[in-house]
Amino acid sequence: MFDETLAQAWDFRFGAAPPDLPEMGKFLNHRSVRKFTDKPIPQGLMQGLIAAGQSAATSSNLQLWSAIAVRSPERREEIAMLCADQHQVRGCAEFLCFFADHYRLRAAAAEVGEAAEGLEFAEFYTMATIDASLAAERIVCAAESVGLGICYIGALRNDPEGVKAFFDLPEGVFGLFGLCLGWPEEPLRAQIKPRLLPTSVCFEERYRKDVDVSEYNGRMAAFYESQKMKGDVNWSMRSGRRVDAHHMTGRDGQLAWLQAHGFLRK
Ligand SMILES: Cc1cc2nc3c(=O)[nH]c(=O)nc-3n(C[C@H](O)[C@H](O)[C@H](O)COP(=O)(O)O)c2cc1C
Repeated sequence: MFDETLAQAWDFRFGAAPPDLPEMGKFLNHRSVRKFTDKPIPQGLMQGLIAAGQSAATSSNLQLWSAIAVRSPERREEIAMLCADQHQVRGCAEFLCFFADHYRLRAAAAEVGEAAEGLEFAEFYTMATIDASLAAERIVCAAESVGLGICYIGALRNDPEGVKAFFDLPEGVFGLFGLCLGWPEEPLRAQIKPRLLPTSVCFEERYRKDVDVSEYNGRMAAFYESQKMKGDVNWSMRSGRRVDAHHMTGRDGQLAWLQAHGFLRK
């Protein structure tokens, strides 16, 4: 599982031979997995994964995130429907939902006489989303290091009101994304997906406006073809479509929802 060498993983990622790299673990081997076996994840391992997430850096140690595991089959079915009926939400061993969470800190601050009005600023929404993402990705790295597969589920944001009711969320808590975890079905069909060249993403000293993505478009066109993803001519075309205003899948009301529930007011 995820058993490509570093050189092979680099080649899949960037279509080139790697530079002289030290041994550095399997951090280049990630791919989203959407088919899982029925094998459960041992409770001790889940506890270890959550502890790994909590060990991520967190802005000012505020820990502005929470996660909820959805385990009962009935509730898993319901949350799958809230997440655009995606089969991997049903089929994974564990489904964790991640939240930007101002509620816990607001309550702790109130107990010591602090109004916590700063939480209404955009800054603290951004901080909560960063905290949740760092924690989740650390769980992902830990999970993949022991052979688990993962798939993030952004569709948790499609219906914030439905998600609020489903989890009985208090004010100041917003569902950011779900995370499917499980043992990948073998043979593993998911491939390492090409990425933009490192030099197109990571610059020195100043922002580079002249990045040329045509080389990447060529690699992605070949990848789509190999995956039988019909109609996906290249990355610019597919991604451009993804960010037109017609693919918001219920998320176009997000700003109003967040403001109505205590976020992003200032
Ligand atoms: C925040 C976030 C939300 C995502 N939401 C979904 C989703 O709802 N369904 C899905 O199948 N994949 C989802 N993905 C997976 C991405 O499509 C995937 O990471 C991307 O295409 C790159 O492929 P790779 O992970 O295999 O490298 C999500 C990824 C992220 C980071």
